Amino acid sequence: MKLALALTLLPLASGACPYLEAGGDPSTGSPHSLEARANFAAAVDEIDFAEVMADLKSRFVTSDPAWPADYGTYAPFFIRLAWHCSGSYRTSDGRGGCDGGRQRFDPERSWDNNTNLDKARGLLWDIKQKHGPGLSWGDLFVLAGTTAIESMGGPVLGFCAGRMDDADGSDSIPLGPNAEQQALAPCEVNGECEEPLGSTTVGLIYVNPEGPMGKPDPVVSGGQVRDTFLRMAMNDTETVALIGGGHAFGKTHGACPDGPGESPAENPTHPWAGNCGTGVGVDAFTSGFEGPWTTDPTSWDNEYFTNLLNYDWDVAKGPGGHYQWSANSTTAADSPVAPTADLADTQPIMMLTSDISLINDPDYKEIVADYAANPSNFDDAFAHAWYKLVSRDMGPITRCKGGEVPDAQPFQYPLPPTPAASSLPPVADVMSALKSHLSASPSSVPAFASLAFSCASTFRRTDFLGGCDGARVRMEPERSFPGNEGAEEVLRELEEIRSEFPNLSVADIIVLGGNAAIEAAGGDVGTVCIGRTDAPDGDLGSEYLFPRIAGNEDIDIAHLYDSIDLLGLTKMEFVALSGGHDLAQEGAWAVNPAKLSVGYFDRLLNLEWDGEAAPYTAVGADNEKLFATEVDMLVRVDAQLQAAAQALLQDEDLFKQQFGKAWGKLMQNDLFFSNEERAELCA
Ligand code: HEM
Ligand SMILES: *[C@@H]1O[C@H](CO)[C@@H](O)[C@H](O)[C@H]1NC(C)=O
Ligand SMILES: *[C@@H]1O[C@H](CO)[C@@H](O)[C@H](O)[C@H]1NC(C)=O
Ligand SMILES: *[C@@H]1O[C@H](CO)[C@@H](O)[C@H](O)[C@H]1NC(C)=O
Ligand SMILES: *[C@@H]1O[C@H](CO)[C@@H](O)[C@H](O)[C@H]1NC(C)=O
Repeated sequence: MKLALALTLLPLASGACPYLEAGGDPSTGSPHSLEARANFAAAVDEIDFAEVMADLKSRFVTSDPAWPADYGTYAPFFIRLAWHCSGSYRTSDGRGGCDGGRQRFDPERSWDNNTNLDKARGLLWDIKQKHGPGLSWGDLFVLAGTTAIESMGGPVLGFCAGRMDDADGSDSIPLGPNAEQQALAPCEVNGECEEPLGSTTVGLIYVNPEGPMGKPDPVVSGGQVRDTFLRMAMNDTETVALIGGGHAFGKTHGACPDGPGESPAENPTHPWAGNCGTGVGVDAFTSGFEGPWTTDPTSWDNEYFTNLLNYDWDVAKGPGGHYQWSANSTTAADSPVAPTADLADTQPIMMLTSDISLINDPDYKEIVADYAANPSNFDDAFAHAWYKLVSRDMGPITRCKGGEVPDAQPFQYPLPPTPAASSLPPVADVMSALKSHLSASPSSVPAFASLAFSCASTFRRTDFLGGCDGARVRMEPERSFPGNEGAEEVLRELEEIRSEFPNLSVADIIVLGGNAAIEAAGGDVGTVCIGRTDAPDGDLGSEYLFPRIAGNEDIDIAHLYDSIDLLGLTKMEFVALSGGHDLAQEGAWAVNPAKLSVGYFDRLLNLEWDGEAAPYTAVGADNEKLFATEVDMLVRVDAQLQAAAQALLQDEDLFKQQFGKAWGKLMQNDLFFSNEERAELCA
């Protein structure tokens, strides 16, 4: 009984309860260091994914009595695993998604909707163990689902490998349910939660399948389906393809009304034992609904759509005590396509309220009719939507590894390929041109530094959007972010220098300009890389980004912590970077000529500040009027940020070291060079 071992071993191995850490520093599990990232990518290169897929295919059809496979295959079960792992993704902050493999940990593993997925993960342990650390759990979950689709005849676009596992579930704490999520994104009525939360119901992947708040109302349910899929960047055609494609396979489980038993958080050694009969096989309880959606739930087809259109659907409570819909086999509605099977001869099929919503919404219904009549439209839409579903949180295609990576997709916002080092000018030449410009024009020091900072600080480590690669600071919406008002003028200045260096991108000159400015002001910038490229016209790479720190005058401490975490910085590093205000040309922290010092911390901590809201004011040592933003004031008053500011004020070396570390991270976070590329492009 290998599986039984795996099932008891895995929950124990998953470690401490992250609820305890709520309110603490969420940046402990991630971000992964640049070195760790490159080393992991090299380990992924060693994995033979074709062999993993072969192992998966034999796993699908090898039933384990500890959790017997329905219809002789685990394939549908693994599709649900991959979908629930990926479907937590939300565009609001890039959190969620399968990269990180956090479904192994609380809070996600104990969500109602992840009931019994501990068994699916346990069934994969032998394969994980066989292939070693280059095969992450995140990759294995997604590949299991993708291979499952393919093995049952479904259309598959490819596979982007390279998900890097997190050490714990802390990055999912903001998804809830817990106190930290309530502080960041309160949800007053669970079932009607709004953005930035990814779902209407905290603890569910998307909507309540039974209908809003458990009421089987397909009209209201349809609105919720649209709303929640939009929050993960899925439009109507993608949404209908995904739901119908997923529910082409497998079944719901709800043998009796007694429930699934305790979650892993409640009972880590024997979670979800099931309260019906034996708890497994025909007695399984997962969602509390019972039955398949189609008459052939182990083969790819568009029967889900023809069924929706061909039968009248009646609602009643099923064996699990929840409302579900059954097909009235005697009445076929006025359907454009012929019924697939005589239902009297097959296992009863069912629909969830969320499925029925697709024929109650006129826009959804049109798509259902298209997929029912034109299977190739369905195949094409599903293959693309599935790949996007499972890969979206991976960020740019440069993160994708393995031999099955499809061409760059629109959701990856493709940039031109990384240039060969030999086609680029030597970094030293560019730096010396920049530095002689800055010594002739010292007022450009703060301008260059702040443009590089604006360009790079849009990055979010959750889904790898933002950052200076692409130089999207030139384009909308970033061009209009607060703080970028003077960017165009600075860009013209940089363009003049760039014109001396063929093949150097705008993104590179912005970053190198910032580096030269920091060095001119006496700071250290750490490793310097070139090889960035510029986003083409019409690029949408910043469509989900918005100003998080600069210009956000409503920010509170929970959101500031969150923003620091998204940047991949520690609190100390963030506070050190704030010391860069010391370079500001005018206003708050003017010191001329620009020199990086701890003066900002001195003024912030030691002056008397007036005002109820930003801009706060104080009078400086030379009687000058100083201003502070809401973020400055949070650094002054928040216990942890204040402690960092005190430490930096008292130790100039520590300040320079932390500043350099933070600056270097910010400038490189969005680059996914291989070890070989790093050797050539970074110095
Ligand atoms: C509105 C969105 C959705 C809702 C409310 C929903 C709901 C459900 C429910 C209640 C179950 C039964 C779980 C159980 O009792 O075992 C289920 C199973 C399943 N779902 Fe979905 N689902 C949705 C979207 C999707 C999507 C997008 C996919 C994949 C592309 C998918 C794939 C599956 C599969 C394959 C199963 C069968 C698992 C098995 O046989 O063990 N679902 N879904
Ligand atoms: C999700 O959780 C809700 C509430 O517990 C439950 O009614 C529903 O059946 C679950 N759905 C799935 C897919 O597990
Ligand atoms: C949804 O997005 C996909 C992929 O970008 C696109 O092919 C499709 O036309 C879009 N559908 C709608 C209704 O906009
Ligand atoms: C099926 O539809 C027929 C005709 O409308 C109706 O008489 C019958 O009661 C329905 N059966 C069920 C199970 O609802
Ligand atoms: C610029 O790049 C092109 C294409 O890679 C290359 O052929 C050319 O030699 C490069 N120019 C210089 C001056 O390196």
